[in-house]
Amino acid sequence: MRLANKVAIITGAGAGIGEATAIRFAEEGAKVVLVDISAELAGAAAGGICERGGRAVSIAADISKNDQARAISEAAIKEFGSIHILVNNAADFTTKSVEQAEVADWERVLHVNVIGTALVSKYAIPHMKASGGSIVNMASMSSIIAQPNFATYNSSKGAILTMTKCMALDLAPFNIRVNAICPGCVLTSATEREWKRMGQTKEQWIGLNAPLHMLNRVGDPREIANVALFLGSDESSFMTAAHVMVDGGYTGR
Ligand SMILES: NC(=O)c1ccc[n+]([C@@H]2O[C@H](COP(=O)([O-])OP(=O)(O)OC[C@H]3O[C@@H](n4cnc5c(N)ncnc54)[C@H](O)[C@@H]3O)[C@@H](O)[C@H]2O)c1
Repeated sequence: MRLANKVAIITGAGAGIGEATAIRFAEEGAKVVLVDISAELAGAAAGGICERGGRAVSIAADISKNDQARAISEAAIKEFGSIHILVNNAADFTTKSVEQAEVADWERVLHVNVIGTALVSKYAIPHMKASGGSIVNMASMSSIIAQPNFATYNSSKGAILTMTKCMALDLAPFNIRVNAICPGCVLTSATEREWKRMGQTKEQWIGLNAPLHMLNRVGDPREIANVALFLGSDESSFMTAAHVMVDGGYTGR
């Protein structure tokens, strides 16, 4: 068990990469706190883990709201007594060019992706200082590349990489490591919304995106969860301020 006796908070754990990460962590012995803006999704995902013999609780919270962000760590401590791992995974997917975006678009995407990540971390860090720990921020290949009409989302994901390095520096004295993951295209509810928005079928979307990855396919959430597991665990004990590309070679060309 690679995460025996560890307590992990995972945001955006009601679906996609976050749910896969919560499942993977629980398989490796972690007690997991599944956070999602949707109580229904978080509850169902946590219920599934418990049915398979894991230890999981769910909490409905919008990470961009200060009080709700604080309540996440309070719930984790109340339930499990400590916090060792935090996976900041929840995200807003507003994708617009600078010309297209209104102030409200920028406010929404930056508030959830940048400020939300910061707030959840802010309230978890004091509890992690006791024993050291690992924070994993879900960035994206979009953190480091341009994509058409993605300025809002990509700017927020770029900020997450910089925040990761700043957090790593500030928290190193407390043996809290902070790293980021940069996934390529992964099949989730978010990408399903994307192909529907573009008026495409799933097959059309995969057909357009798979060849952009060297491996000529898109990713599965579990392939990202496996890297979150490595970064969350002590196996990555000499890693901090790093970002790991998990993009099937998309950005390697
Ligand atoms: N899917 C991809 O292709 C892809 C690629 C690169 C990076 N990512 C990143 O991976 C992470 C997960 O993406 P996904 O594709 O699994 O998304 P998803 O939409 O399938 O799941 C995200 C979950 O986060 C929840 N959520 C959204 N806003 C929230 C908020 N304010 N507070 C709490 N929960 C909230 C949603 O309800 C949802 O259950 C995101 O950070 C995303 O930017 C995804």
